[in-house]
Amino acid sequence: MKDILEQLGQRRAEAKLGGGQRRIDAQHARGKLTARERIELLLDEDSFEEFDMFVRHRSTDFGIEADRPYGDGVVTGWGTINGRMVYVFSQDFTVFGGSLSETHARKICKIMDMAMQNGAPVIGINDSGGARIQEGVASLAGYADVFQRNIMASGVVPQISLIMGPCAGGAVYSPAITDFIFMVRDTSYMFVTGPDVVKTVTNEVVTAEQLGGASTHTKKSSVADGAFDNDVEMLTEIRRLFDFLPLSNRDKAPTRPFFDDPARIEPSLDTLIPDNPNQPYDMKELIAKIADEGDFYEIQRDFAGNILTGFVRIEGQTVGVVANQPLVLAGVLDIDSSRKAARFVRFCDAFNIPILTLVDVPGFLPGTAQEYGGVIKHGAKLLFAYGEATVPKVTVITRKAYGGAYDVMSSKHLRGDFNYAWPTAEIAVMGAKGAVEILYRSELSDADRIAARTKDYEDRFANPFVAAEKGFIDEVIQPHSTRRRVARAFASLRGKQLGNPWKKHDNIPL
Ligand code: HXC
Repeated sequence: MKDILEQLGQRRAEAKLGGGQRRIDAQHARGKLTARERIELLLDEDSFEEFDMFVRHRSTDFGIEADRPYGDGVVTGWGTINGRMVYVFSQDFTVFGGSLSETHARKICKIMDMAMQNGAPVIGINDSGGARIQEGVASLAGYADVFQRNIMASGVVPQISLIMGPCAGGAVYSPAITDFIFMVRDTSYMFVTGPDVVKTVTNEVVTAEQLGGASTHTKKSSVADGAFDNDVEMLTEIRRLFDFLPLSNRDKAPTRPFFDDPARIEPSLDTLIPDNPNQPYDMKELIAKIADEGDFYEIQRDFAGNILTGFVRIEGQTVGVVANQPLVLAGVLDIDSSRKAARFVRFCDAFNIPILTLVDVPGFLPGTAQEYGGVIKHGAKLLFAYGEATVPKVTVITRKAYGGAYDVMSSKHLRGDFNYAWPTAEIAVMGAKGAVEILYRSELSDADRIAARTKDYEDRFANPFVAAEKGFIDEVIQPHSTRRRVARAFASLRGKQLGNPWKKHDNIPL
């Protein structure tokens, strides 16, 4: 008996060594942690329960049958993050470069099936040379099996992809289907075709970092939702993100203890809006003053800064925030900001997370670049996302809500539950100057008349009261009481029930 127990110990020790000490050292030398070290940091201490530690590949081509390390290049299982369950897979670059074989894929599929069945999120740690070259189509089949599960799990359990090494070729499409992608700066990259192929086909010379590094994907392509300086920072921050999320679409996000008065008064908000309507201010200040303890977990911080998206808690409950940012392009809606916010709104709605919308928007960005790029279709994504969302929706208009953008930004007409405005709100088809130039074109040469017309227009529309008269704004509120009003609004909506008509699925303009 003792021998048998010792044997198990030996086998486990062998499995834990992955591709061997030399390759572990090489991984460390690049500033990367191993697959197991990453899981240890991500999960609560001693909470990890591993599956399939002794799985080996069955391939017999290219002499690979002589090399059958335990685990086959991926560590899988489940554990907890602050006591809440999560399934994890972590690719082991020390075993065949973390490449995906038939059995490697099966291990991932097994935990994904369990996650769906048991209602817990999946976090995938990607560090892989892609399809196991020796296995050919069996490996491609394995990828497709994972993709299919990613698709089925979408909207059922949150899926988070951490790119902590190479992720290239078709392998990128599994993370691409998941809800969030995060990357590590300088040690991770994602691309469909690498620098060599790019050079052959297009003659462009780029490094892997330029083509698909963290900076590229957080700032240019928006494929990634955030980037971190190293493995430790990423894993710590993902634990923080996880705490905002529900375990599945059958669940509500967790309520955390809070030490911040929901009725907190913020006198400084009464002077947040500058006297000059063209002067910007930082919308993040308002978010921080509404949120419990000022904590804002921003998503896609480095992309389309004219709109802010992220999570806060109000009275301990997770709320998704979408806010125009007057500091960037005057907070205008354009292709990028519409896409960014639409995807975020849909995530919140899929996972029962209420949405707070803060509005200061001068409209949609004009120009050929926008029209040729399809701003009509992309703007419609955000409109669609808000209109179909059935979670509690609270909106606060701080200043401008002009034109179509007024409708889009979670207006009353798109089933907004509470639509508040500050007294500084201006709700109109457009700004006074533009309106007067169109309505009184024949008087443009008479500066005094135009000034009087502009003033008339401002008196009539540069306020929230016309909209309030019609019931499109539920209440004009004092800026200093915004946190209290918003908190009470969400509290009153905790029992909200609203459904959409039966359909196979919608046809959002993609
Ligand atoms: C088998 C692989 C492998 C792979 C790497 N290795 N990639 N083994 N299949 N795809 C092995 C190497 O042989 C090596 O083994 C070890 O992993 C580490 O690789 P190195 O090249 O030494 O590491 P590094 O210099 O860091 O380069 C990493 C790399 C490079 C950039 C990922 O290995 C590489 O280019 N690999 C091939 C990538 C690729 O073309 N994959 C197929 C893509 S197509 P030893 O024994 O020396 O440690 C694809 C399609 C998916 O993935 C389709 C889905 C639909």
